Amino acid sequence: MAFIHNGSMIPLPGYPLSESRILNPRHVSPLIDGFGRLHNNLRISVTDRCNIRCFYCMPATDVVFMNRSLLLTFEEIERFVRIVAPLGVNKLRLTGGEPLVRHELPVLVRMLAAVPGIEDIGITTNGILLADQAQALWDAGLRRINVSLDALNAEKFEEITRRPGYEKVLEGIKAAQAVGFDPVKVNAVSVRGMTESEIVPFGHFARETGVEIRFIEYMPLDADNAWERDKVLFASEIIETLSRELMPLVAVGERNPHAPATDFVFADGVGRIGFIPSVSQPFCAQCNRFRITADGKIRNCLFSLEETDIRGLLRGGAPDSEIVAAVRASVSAKWAGHHINHPDFVQPDRPMYSIGG
Ligand code: 5AD
Ligand code: SF4
Repeated sequence: MAFIHNGSMIPLPGYPLSESRILNPRHVSPLIDGFGRLHNNLRISVTDRCNIRCFYCMPATDVVFMNRSLLLTFEEIERFVRIVAPLGVNKLRLTGGEPLVRHELPVLVRMLAAVPGIEDIGITTNGILLADQAQALWDAGLRRINVSLDALNAEKFEEITRRPGYEKVLEGIKAAQAVGFDPVKVNAVSVRGMTESEIVPFGHFARETGVEIRFIEYMPLDADNAWERDKVLFASEIIETLSRELMPLVAVGERNPHAPATDFVFADGVGRIGFIPSVSQPFCAQCNRFRITADGKIRNCLFSLEETDIRGLLRGGAPDSEIVAAVRASVSAKWAGHHINHPDFVQPDRPMYSIGG
């Protein structure tokens, strides 16, 4: 907890400052779910379109995209963020599909960066258009970039994404670093029988470039419904491979309890590697996120089977109070955690590209 004394916030023992702010009594009342989890982190999908076709996300052909009239406009997104910021939402991440295919995205970044209470804006991109846009994104106020890249050679890249573009992604990463994004993070989905060959190259890449690599366990969110538990390459196996074939990894202390990644550094201090063990060690108990899809539905979990419509409220002239009530209802209804590891697991109808990751 924290309290305000003479206008300055006093962090109380055991609570990091960022969390103290969420509990700041000046806020109306923070977004807390039925399990006591604070929700300060909103992920905003700005489009379901994408310029590649990763097999763990999209179908290879015949993708049906949302009609553009269904997408929230920048003004609608900004209004939504202005409504939830006073509830303690201070962290945003823009996702897709591929967010950089949305026309003039830096304009949205600038609008969101100006919302009082928003402290941190990030983006998760496939990097193909990043070299062209890195400077404009930085100038607009973006400070965090995660690039999705699962392989370090063009052939494997194309096997996974079913499109060319590997060189473009590398150029995008370099451009982002040159502009000042530090660190640039790379998300690499780990798939058994497919990405084992990339583990050691990614270790070297982290050491040589300063890019942080985060291996993400393959989750059942693919459009083809082809996920099987046996296809998940577990974080523990990657740690073992890197430690054996490259150098031992040492866990980095002081980790943010709400970050899904567990971070490591190589024993000589060079090269940072993180893991998002979403299947083998879900971080649901610490989850502080909720999402709004490009067509304006709130999802309280990646794996939600239910959504709350916000677009209808925004377009139907609903007052802010009604939108706040809808957000609170969605967050309160959040379940304890995903059921990937239970026999009753049901994959959501929306694949990753239309949720936003
Ligand atoms: N399993 C794990 N990660 C996935 N991503 C997309 N689909 C899946 C999946 N089925 C990753 C992307 C991106 C992030 C938003 O989620 O690679 O980095
Ligand atoms: Fe596009 Fe990302 Fe889906 Fe790959 S994972 S197809 S980059 S939206």
